[in-house]
Amino acid sequence: LRVVIVKDYDEVGRRAAEFIAAAIRRKPDLVLGLATGSTPLGAYRELVRLRKEGLDFSRVKTFNLDEYFGIPHDHPQSYHRFMKENLFDHLNVKPENVSIPDGMAKDYREVCEEYERRINAAGGIDLQLLGIGRDGHIGFNEPGSSLASRTRLKTLTDQTLKDNSRFFGSEDAVPKLAVTMGVGTIMEAHRILLLASGPEKAQALKESLEGPVTSTITASVLQLHPLATFIVDEPAAAKLRWREYYLNVERLSREVGQEAGV
Ligand code: F6R
Repeated sequence: LRVVIVKDYDEVGRRAAEFIAAAIRRKPDLVLGLATGSTPLGAYRELVRLRKEGLDFSRVKTFNLDEYFGIPHDHPQSYHRFMKENLFDHLNVKPENVSIPDGMAKDYREVCEEYERRINAAGGIDLQLLGIGRDGHIGFNEPGSSLASRTRLKTLTDQTLKDNSRFFGSEDAVPKLAVTMGVGTIMEAHRILLLASGPEKAQALKESLEGPVTSTITASVLQLHPLATFIVDEPAAAKLRWREYYLNVERLSREVGQEAGV
């Protein structure tokens, strides 16, 4: 586990985009797992800038973590629309290489199974980008999600409905269900990059990194992942007991020119 503490939201975005760009340069046909929400937007802006400098996405395949259930793809708050407007319209990713769960399908079970099959057919996810919810969720794997869960329909918690009401105008307008990759699906990604920014994430981050592995904080399972990196800003890191140690590890890693884990 590597914990990189940086100054602020903008630096989280820059460092995350550098991380993703380096992975694409190493493997131009990278299978990249993507997230929505406020946290990755800075990274997406940076990736768009790197595209202008020539970073090539033409062989990259993408898989989004989740989508609300029952809202059309062109709904202003759908994750299909979010991804199109914030990323795909500005990159040269081929449309046939983009996968986002279909929240409108009649047979959602088939959609979920097909999504897993598609990930496998692509050879698995090389790098999965994640945010973290205030309740410690990754994807929409709310507290109590099985740590072995696969892509499925999931009920959102009141906390998540409240948090996401900022996008929908009111809590009532937020869809109550979402199709999400499972915790087990996420854990199979070769590498994980989790981003967190702001004081409202400090408690969830502390519990994920320094608490026990538990299904009530699904991000805590990342402690069991062999190649997980967290890039977090100072306000999100404020409650970490081992904050100074994480900073020292990064400082020493730079000095010896090696990436060291905690
Ligand atoms: C989004 C997702 C969620 C968000 C999380 C944090 O695809 O899967 O887990 O990453 O809810 O959201 P923000 O970044 O808006 O605070």
